Amino acid sequence: MNSPAENPLDRVLVLEMVRVTEAAAVAASKLIGRGDEKAADAAAVEAMRKAFDTLAIDGTVVIGEGERDEAPMLFIGEKVGGAPGEGPKIDIALDPLEGTTITAKAGPNALAVLAAAAEGCLLNAPDVYMDKLAVGPGYPDGIIDLAKSPTENVQAVAKAKGVAPSDIIVCVLDRPRHAELIAELRGLGCGVVLIGDGDVAGVIAVTDEDTTIDMYMGQGGAPEGVLAAAALRCVGGQFNGRLVFRNDDERGRAAKWGIDDLDRIYTRDDLVKGDCIFAATGVTPGSLLDGVKYLRGGRMTTESVVMRSSSGTVRWIKGEHREG
Ligand code: FBP
Repeated sequence: MNSPAENPLDRVLVLEMVRVTEAAAVAASKLIGRGDEKAADAAAVEAMRKAFDTLAIDGTVVIGEGERDEAPMLFIGEKVGGAPGEGPKIDIALDPLEGTTITAKAGPNALAVLAAAAEGCLLNAPDVYMDKLAVGPGYPDGIIDLAKSPTENVQAVAKAKGVAPSDIIVCVLDRPRHAELIAELRGLGCGVVLIGDGDVAGVIAVTDEDTTIDMYMGQGGAPEGVLAAAALRCVGGQFNGRLVFRNDDERGRAAKWGIDDLDRIYTRDDLVKGDCIFAATGVTPGSLLDGVKYLRGGRMTTESVVMRSSSGTVRWIKGEHREG
């Protein structure tokens, strides 16, 4: 944990972060079910970019919408915040709309999400895939290990939980690349919860007993892996991630971000160090948060969560807003 003197994450800032995810969620919500992923994403990005200006921070996007030449706003390296050169120096990982397809199709679990930490405390993950493995809080350290097979990991968690492997429920993104993984898990008798998109919510689901999900497994975006690791750092739970490089272009990107060990398995605390904040607002209804709801008279409600790792505080915030 950073000492108070060197910790730039002010208590006030924790709550302020919710304004930023709320703004993105509200903007994206207007495009729910409209079949236009790009428009929904663009609306969320623009609103989030604007909302950052209201925060007295000297922020830098370390995980964002892509590299400078491929993203007009909230690109990696972009400075955000209303106090450049003066405010606390904060690194930000963000996804203004985690679940663009979900939003376009009005599916569950789309979120506006960000994580913030002191400069240098978030892994600058390139936009490649990541093998992910997660388990909720309450297990001995090191219970999960990406170097081991899915079967070995399920067996370890089942033993620690005092149940049979067939009682373990695993969340996996529904993708053809996961066919073998799903077959292996079903071979053990595990319950496999297949999600169409949105693995930040999928990973966080392991921390919530109500979901009944014990573990998360499979390949998704590396930026989303860092965001999920930040949430787990706040509420507990273990995470392993390994970057997946499919071609020379992707390997080149790793070198650019200073990653030389391409096979490294990152733990939660390798991805996110020191004190961190995780904030999310629901766009569409989901396991973590309710979506934006429109009421009569031009009013709307949002549901958000904001957490801080140093205090372990988790705040659920229901907002009522007026249009315009
Ligand atoms: P987007 O919001 O960028 O569409 O991401 C949704 C998502 O499902 C992530 O949650 C996940 O990490 C990633 O896409 C998986 O990638 P792919 O769709 O290529 O399998």
